[in-house]
Amino acid sequence: MTFPQLIDGKAIAAQIYEELRPRVASLVAQGFQPGLAVILVGENPASQVYVRNKERACEKLGIRSFRYHLPEKTDLGELLSLIDTLNACAEVHGILVQLPLPPHIEERNVLYRISPEKDVDGFHPYNLGRLMVGDPVFLPCTPWGIQELLRRSGIEVEGKHVVIVGRSNIVGKPLAMMFVQKAKGANATVSICHTRTPDLAEHTKRADILVAACGSPRVITGNMVKEGAVVIDVGINRVGEKLVGDVDFDSVVGKVSYITPVPGGVGPMTVAMLMANTVKAAERFFARAGERKQ
Ligand code: GUN
Repeated sequence: MTFPQLIDGKAIAAQIYEELRPRVASLVAQGFQPGLAVILVGENPASQVYVRNKERACEKLGIRSFRYHLPEKTDLGELLSLIDTLNACAEVHGILVQLPLPPHIEERNVLYRISPEKDVDGFHPYNLGRLMVGDPVFLPCTPWGIQELLRRSGIEVEGKHVVIVGRSNIVGKPLAMMFVQKAKGANATVSICHTRTPDLAEHTKRADILVAACGSPRVITGNMVKEGAVVIDVGINRVGEKLVGDVDFDSVVGKVSYITPVPGGVGPMTVAMLMANTVKAAERFFARAGERKQ
């Protein structure tokens, strides 16, 4: 019998905010305030909550946030022209387009238009390519948050078998790419499973670290995890009035060594890493502005 420890994402995110504070203060002292533009298209209720959380985090840190809430019927041309304006705006150092977009807008066309230097989500192919070759600039926020949760909880990834359930461009694929790197906090053996994987449990049972990022409520159950494994739950699903993860917490918790709760696990880390990327984007912007002056 092992004794599971809850990984407290809120507390670890709070540490990250404290580390960012002096960096923001130093920029502000030089007359530069970091700025994040957040674009929301339509009325998706979950997206509205996420956007509000991101704005609150900006407020807490003294980062300016600019919200653009566009109607559902916005067309691609209008959205691209807003992104062009923000790419050229000196007060905006990070641009985030909240996903999902309405179905008539091809997400790719939008994400590719954001300047890679303002791509604080790390979704532009330039930044994903830099991640792939092991020389990242902006890492996608949720995978980076997971890596930080593990590192700051003293959980070694090197030499471990990490099994990721989910192959999204936002979480599964970039996380696999991060953990497989020859680098600190990585050097893992990684398996990616997905909806077409036969005998999913055969794979998940072999995981030292299991990451559930498939977007369906409670699909990972106790009989699918190895005794003593570490379980990271990326899911946020609304079931009735409750928010539940992709992991069936009650059936898994008695078997594992560490587990993230939902809410309060990975979610706060995604926002914290977005703040970290925004501060980094602002620092890079001001360094370039300084070079231009010389
Ligand atoms: N929708 C769900 N997660 C994310 C995220 O990390 N960034 C953006 N822009 N949209 C999302």
